[in-house]
Amino acid sequence: MSVETTSRTVQPIPRDALVYVAGHRGLVGSAIWRRLQAAGFTNLLGVTSAELDLRERDSVSDFFQQHKPQAVVLAAAKVGGILANDTYPVDFLSDNLRIQLNVMDAARSVGVQRLLFLGSSCIYPKFAEQPIVEDALLTGHLEPTNDAYAIAKIAGIQQVQAVRKQDGLPWISAMPTNLYGPGDNFSPQGSHVLPALIRRFEQARIDGTPSVTNWGTGTPRREFLHVDDMADACLHLLDHYDGGQQVNVGTGKDITIAELSDLIAAAVGYTGEVQWDTTKPDGTPQKLLDVSKLNAAGWQHAITLEEGLRSTVTWYREHRDDLRA
Ligand SMILES: NC(=O)c1ccc[n+]([C@@H]2O[C@H](COP(=O)([O-])OP(=O)(O)OC[C@H]3O[C@@H](n4cnc5c(N)ncnc54)[C@H](OP(=O)(O)O)[C@@H]3O)[C@@H](O)[C@H]2O)c1
Repeated sequence: MSVETTSRTVQPIPRDALVYVAGHRGLVGSAIWRRLQAAGFTNLLGVTSAELDLRERDSVSDFFQQHKPQAVVLAAAKVGGILANDTYPVDFLSDNLRIQLNVMDAARSVGVQRLLFLGSSCIYPKFAEQPIVEDALLTGHLEPTNDAYAIAKIAGIQQVQAVRKQDGLPWISAMPTNLYGPGDNFSPQGSHVLPALIRRFEQARIDGTPSVTNWGTGTPRREFLHVDDMADACLHLLDHYDGGQQVNVGTGKDITIAELSDLIAAAVGYTGEVQWDTTKPDGTPQKLLDVSKLNAAGWQHAITLEEGLRSTVTWYREHRDDLRA
């Protein structure tokens, strides 16, 4: 399908509009919920997966018929780290396709005007030129450990574009880089690199462990965005952006994993030694999004990594006993 690469002008969403945030308890959804509240939205709708399993088509359809939201943020997804993605590809493909299809079909059936679909930077080819521009989509092979998840997300982008083309509705897609912040997954099985390092260094500090060993060489470069910045970008796009092409959401800056490890050790107050187990895999050498499109749409990130890490460590300490599994 051809993609419109230009954007039109939309009006900001009225603050009394009924906005359904799918996945409002997750890392991304909860940040968006907080941001919408702070922006004065008075009519937010959120239900848990126990109350409404978005994989169940009829229930989703009934929910939309009952509430008829005016805007939808689709931040519900089956999300996981490399191990989970690699072990359960059917679940990641099937659950995510079903969630997206059910929500978007139901939203279409009640004429939802604004919908923001959230994907992730894993939609881009494994060997995409860095920094990765939006046009890199579908130009090469995906990273095989999470290709099932990526294909589901690419289908979601395509669905948004198809609805735009067929129905003329100003739906949009955003692709955030690696996110972190309050509400992140710190579990040993499911966590991404940043929360995993916070957990490891904090435990080592508490136990007085003289040295910590991280996986790999520490040389891969990655980009990290605080989830509150991401939520701010999402609101900005919902209020001002109307284009068919997905929009990268990031800082446009990357650091090595070794630099990240040092920043986290400092934020936690761990003063022991850091070693690197170079027998473990590094993953792709660099992953950085080109965010010029987002910048041109009038948005830039505000929270520095040092600042964001400090507040995330504080949050982690306050919530260590009630963290998600
Ligand atoms: N985390 C990142 O670094 C990152 C980076 C880029 C993009 N993203 C994207 O942002 C989106 C959300 O990610 P996240 O990190 O916020 O994930 P998360 O913290 O795991 O939250 C996922 C949410 O989805 C809901 N959910 C999952 N399966 C569901 C189902 N069958 N029915 C209803 N709700 C369901 C969960 O609801 P309950 O809590 O009620 O169970 C949960 O609130 C994803 O599309 C992801 O690709 C995340």
